[in-house]
Amino acid sequence: MNNYRKFTTTIAKEAGIFLKKRFNEKHTVNYKGEIDIVTEVDKMAEEMLISRIDEKFPHHDILAEESTETDKGSDFRWIIDPLDGTTNYAHGYPVFCVSIALEKENEIIIGVIYDPMLEEIFVAEKGKGAFLNSKRISVSKTVELPKSLLATGFPYDIRTNPDNNLNYFNEMATKVLAIRRAGSAALDLAYMAAGRFDGFWELRLNPWDTAAGWLLVEEAGGLVTDLFGKDYHLKSPHILTSNGKIHGEMINVFKRVDRLAQGFKSHR
Ligand code: IPD
Ligand code: CA
Ligand code: CA
Repeated sequence: MNNYRKFTTTIAKEAGIFLKKRFNEKHTVNYKGEIDIVTEVDKMAEEMLISRIDEKFPHHDILAEESTETDKGSDFRWIIDPLDGTTNYAHGYPVFCVSIALEKENEIIIGVIYDPMLEEIFVAEKGKGAFLNSKRISVSKTVELPKSLLATGFPYDIRTNPDNNLNYFNEMATKVLAIRRAGSAALDLAYMAAGRFDGFWELRLNPWDTAAGWLLVEEAGGLVTDLFGKDYHLKSPHILTSNGKIHGEMINVFKRVDRLAQGFKSHR
């Protein structure tokens, strides 16, 4: 197990150093959707990671954002976001990371998130805790929602799908200390694990956005569910994480928003 952790840390750093080296260059931007972009650097970093894994563990499966998923029937699956925060990256806004998780028999056993700009490596191993640059980390101790700093994000179909988190954001913004929308969900989760945020939620994230961060938050003593408190899994339509202490209050906000929307519909 230790070897997996070391290997994952090594390749996350390699890819992150590559991202940092290319950060100030001009990038080729392609549109995967109306506002969903990808650069040549995303693809190159992903190719680097995949070839390192293929070389070391040729029988393992890989799910990576910019490639077709492999199915070799392995018990092991690597879940990779080579560059989480592409919009930031392409605009020279230095908030992005590499996120790598290793799953064994459908359970995440390793989660590593690397921010090359701050040289921060977040590492979690199932049952062994969460660490930032080798120091153990844990979630915050804030107990009240009005004193909480939260993070969130908005889905790429925000323009066309009315279920776009703006309703939850509006309500939540008046109940908490502040909300950040920094543009890297994986980093948001890593910051949750480090106690920098008290809560985080988002809709329609992909497995590569959440896999490593999910384990980090749990190993740091936090709670990870869907928006209404049901068990989280990689195909959940939404994610809610918190330090555990404000979880119920956050769920109540989402429920209230939904109830109001129902009431509004029935009066029309
Ligand atoms: C995105 C970021 C962003 C989140 C989006 C993700 P990408 O990942 O994590 O914070 O709001 O939903 O897709 O596209 O930069 O890898
Ligand atoms: Ca992502
Ligand atoms: Ca990405």
